[in-house]
Amino acid sequence: MAAHPRGEPAHTPLLQAEGLWLLAGGRPVLREVGFEVARAEVLVIVGPSGSGKSTLLRHIAGLDRPARGRVRVQGEDLHAGDEDAQQRLRRRQGVMFQSGALWSSLTVGENLMLPMRLFTTLDEQALRARAHALLERVGLADAFALAPAQLSGGMRKRAALARALALDPPLLLLDEPGSGLDPLNAQRLDELVLELRHHLGTAVVMVTHEIRSVRAVADRALYLDDKEMTMTAIGTPEELAGHASSVVRRFFAAGGELGS
Ligand SMILES: Nc1ncnc2c1ncn2[C@@H]1O[C@H](COP(=O)(O)OP(=O)(O)OP(=O)(O)O)[C@@H](O)[C@H]1O
Ligand SMILES: [Mg+2]
Repeated sequence: MAAHPRGEPAHTPLLQAEGLWLLAGGRPVLREVGFEVARAEVLVIVGPSGSGKSTLLRHIAGLDRPARGRVRVQGEDLHAGDEDAQQRLRRRQGVMFQSGALWSSLTVGENLMLPMRLFTTLDEQALRARAHALLERVGLADAFALAPAQLSGGMRKRAALARALALDPPLLLLDEPGSGLDPLNAQRLDELVLELRHHLGTAVVMVTHEIRSVRAVADRALYLDDKEMTMTAIGTPEELAGHASSVVRRFFAAGGELGS
């Protein structure tokens, strides 16, 4: 179990995936996937390209509905209630997708303020103050008035992370946040994820295919196998380095990269 910065008892898991069977584009991609994420835990999802990592994340985020099984956020079924209830649960999750871009026609500051405008009652001054504080947290204190096009790739990722934090979610879902970054900036992003967990107690479910990143951030990792079409392992990186499956062991022990 992860360290617990807020010191609360972690009775109900923050996230529960139960017996998930998932489709993408109408075709089966994953079956019988189940796991839990504790408060302030970092769970990393790995697996070859096409194994269903992004598909799993989309279902956890509530954007797609599982063919079978359930996703619970703080004990509540993500797909059960009416649209309002589902929205309310989705807002407990800050999401940064693989293709996750900022809205290019808005400044960085407006990008952060938009979700708060839509879903909070904060007045203009409070919105601005919060957006500035978030940008400071991700090391972009001077970027408020800039257009996304004026940022480097690494800065854009950090701004997207700040936007995912706008509604102060207890859970962050990140799909390959380090992709497209040079190793140094990718490492900085990993450090930022850990810092957020430490300071805010945010739990994180993060997709990556880089073992360096897994070692840096994961409390536990979950392996999706493209041939078996399911998760074949879950555990600490050390446990998985000694796993019975040679495919899993190779990935975690060898330290190589999987596909892309
Ligand atoms: N909209 C879609 N329509 C049809 N098939 C899809 C769709 N989205 C995903 N798939 C298929 O579902 C499978 C899983 O895709 P997914 O994007 O979840 O993989 P991934 O593990 O995230 O891969 P990568 O590491 O390349 O990002 C793949 O075979 C993919 O071709
Ligand atoms: Mg993907």
